Amino acid sequence: MSKTFIHVSVAWPYANGDLHVGHLAGALLPADIFARYHRLKGNHVLMVSGSDSHGTPIMVEASKRGLSAEALFELYHNRFLRTLAKAGIAFDLYTHTHTENHERIAQDIFNTLLERGYLVKRPQTLLYSELEQRFLPDRFVEGQCYVCGYKDARGDQCDSCGTLIDATKLINPRSKANPNDILVLKDTEHYFLDLPQFKQAIEAYFDQHEGQWRPQVMNFSRNFLKELHARPITRDIDWGVPVPLEGWNDKRMYVWFEAVMGYLTASIEWAHNVGQPDAWQQWWYNPDAQIYNFLGKDNIPFHTVIWQAELMGIAGLYHDGKTPLNLPHDVPANEFMNIEGEKFSKSRNWAVWLPDILERYQPDAVRYYVARTMPETHDSDFSWEGFFTCVNNELLAAWGNLVNRVAGFAYKRYHGCVPTYDALTAEDEAILEKVRGGFETVGSLLEAVKLKDALHTAMNLVRDVNAYLDSRAPWKTIKTDEADAARSVYTTLAAIVDLNTLLAPFLPFSAQAVHEMLGFEGRVFGELKIETYQETSRSHSALVYDPSGAVGAWEPRALPAGQRLNEPKPLYVKLEPDVIDAERARLGAEREEHEIVF
Ligand code: MF3
Ligand code: ZN
Repeated sequence: MSKTFIHVSVAWPYANGDLHVGHLAGALLPADIFARYHRLKGNHVLMVSGSDSHGTPIMVEASKRGLSAEALFELYHNRFLRTLAKAGIAFDLYTHTHTENHERIAQDIFNTLLERGYLVKRPQTLLYSELEQRFLPDRFVEGQCYVCGYKDARGDQCDSCGTLIDATKLINPRSKANPNDILVLKDTEHYFLDLPQFKQAIEAYFDQHEGQWRPQVMNFSRNFLKELHARPITRDIDWGVPVPLEGWNDKRMYVWFEAVMGYLTASIEWAHNVGQPDAWQQWWYNPDAQIYNFLGKDNIPFHTVIWQAELMGIAGLYHDGKTPLNLPHDVPANEFMNIEGEKFSKSRNWAVWLPDILERYQPDAVRYYVARTMPETHDSDFSWEGFFTCVNNELLAAWGNLVNRVAGFAYKRYHGCVPTYDALTAEDEAILEKVRGGFETVGSLLEAVKLKDALHTAMNLVRDVNAYLDSRAPWKTIKTDEADAARSVYTTLAAIVDLNTLLAPFLPFSAQAVHEMLGFEGRVFGELKIETYQETSRSHSALVYDPSGAVGAWEPRALPAGQRLNEPKPLYVKLEPDVIDAERARLGAEREEHEIVF
């Protein structure tokens, strides 16, 4: 089969606070598992994302902390890079949206949409601060809800009744920063993306994917399409991508309009960085390529409607002016992951922060538990008891122990080598055959983005091999029938080689350890590095995946009898039961931020 171009697009987290397990469960980990599988298949994978550097979430946090928006996003962006590398999220490029590259392309996209008549200018009346002499973004305003009367409704949403608020309709609106400020209504003008022009085409696109997409993604998207109207895509703020028009210096592009473009701009940056400036076109203009968009459910309409409209509107950009760009083939949005039965909350510190958990536990232990409880079809729950049980009783007891007891036994009893044997029995062949079947069964589940089922299927094969080993008991037969013991040790080791490949997309760190323990050379996957790129007047750090030298492949791998083993070391650290209470006590308590590197 010929190789396919697979684009893995991952939602861009706002760089206004550390990454937490919600990010991992919602988008980062599913994307990485999926991408690693396709890399092992030998497909051409391009996985990109970056830090969302713009928008009011950055501005609000920066003003709270007395930092500039730029200083704040850079601080968290750099923390993100180290966290992502530690978690093994293998981005070909993880960049950010405050690069010159992103800005230039976002402006080209704006201009193209404008020239083609998809942007329309309209007057708007918005809240203006007399004190600050500027229009206040919704998130900087509070007031009384005009639906339920709640006194402290936010300018974008009422926390009491859930209404999406029109800030200009709030009763007694006030500035969050300066309660004595006087807010007045003032006329301004903005560009709107004329979404209704794309309605039919987007509907046809949904029809093509009916039955293929997750039902909740399709339903949500179709509902959004029902009430489609033009949306303002510029704002009266000073942080973001400048609007490339004369007289518009004091306005910026709306963050959602601009951030989704990152999937394209990061692909173009990647191509430039690897010295093949046109290479991105193989994912965006080649009709056989497939784009998969990984994100959390709160981001759905931006990825299934607004980004589609933008892509349709810029057909042929940097190409021939007319060929359509590929639209996402699938948008496997995940639901939310709660923590100990309650919703994530940054302000209450009800969260499991990735820099913290990765400091205390092995990355594959975290990956295993999060993949195992991934909110693919409904909200799921991260509980410390669940983490403890899954790591000790499944990952360690089933997989870690299988590897360690048989590799340890072979290392001791067969002079540090894979035993040689005469011939395998039908029972031996049967278990090997069963494990090899996993390349088909686990592989097709991964392809369908049913990652939890894929992991479950692979772990069942691990259990089958454990049962085989227990029934053959080479530690007993070695005393009575040496040939039989050698055969069953060989068979178990050979099964482990293939199980290790089946688990590799989920457990890349263990995959490397097992690969080496069994005496194989090279790296299963490529390596992650943090690089710095200098543009004309700005420089930025990015995470990049270097695929060179990767030897992993999604196919059975022969284990040569007599191959030298490396001294086995336990794959996983056993968790002590007191971690449960210790970790629960951290929830909701004040968090010490770790050393912060600029
Ligand atoms: N920054 C947004 C969030 O954290 C997600 C943006 S995804 C993008 O919710 F594609 F638009 F960048
Ligand atoms: Zn309300």
